[in-house]
Amino acid sequence: MKSFTVFVSGSGTNLQAIINKVKEGYIKAELSLVVSDNSNAYALKRAENAEIETAVFNFKKFNSKRNFENAILKKLKEKNIDFIVLAGFMRVLSPKFINKYPDKILNIHPALLPSFKGTHGIKDAYEYGVKVTGPTVHFVTENVDSGPIIIQKAVEIKENDTLESLEEKIHKAEHQIFPEAIKLFVEEKLKVKGKKVIIS
Ligand code: GAR
Repeated sequence: MKSFTVFVSGSGTNLQAIINKVKEGYIKAELSLVVSDNSNAYALKRAENAEIETAVFNFKKFNSKRNFENAILKKLKEKNIDFIVLAGFMRVLSPKFINKYPDKILNIHPALLPSFKGTHGIKDAYEYGVKVTGPTVHFVTENVDSGPIIIQKAVEIKENDTLESLEEKIHKAEHQIFPEAIKLFVEEKLKVKGKKVIIS
């Protein structure tokens, strides 16, 4: 069985959705480690409640990004991690790190890429006034928020939506498509061909 890790920085609602889907047997892989750059992340509690090992790497305690990433890589090697899921991990990984796991890092972004890249995908779409937005699951490549797209889900923005109600709708869609994309990956149904992901 493949072994994977989820990287988090915050609340961890996506992590929770993934934990639930692993428990149900919908995702047939072992979630063997949760990595966080933030020791206060509520996501760590969720991992502990599910009896999943956690590892915190406080960026400020390392004297360079390289050392920070090397420490994480060492841990992943120890745990025989096959693939990585970024679920609200708010740090950009270096090309060197990414190249250690080519086409093996999945990320969720809360907007329909390539629109509204960056750290405020929901707010930026809401303020722009688009009528449709929604989450994207994609493979991570050297260019931030630009890797091959696996699944997207459209979410309509209605006139009576507030930023909060939109956030709620986006998260609900995320909790659906992220486990779905991970399942497809685990079952080796995803093939990357250039910029495209072919789903078999
Ligand atoms: C999610 O909405 C995810 O799309 C976003 O952070 C949130 C994490 O929520 N990620 C990014 O914006 C990455 N650029 P969660 O901690 O409740 O899963």
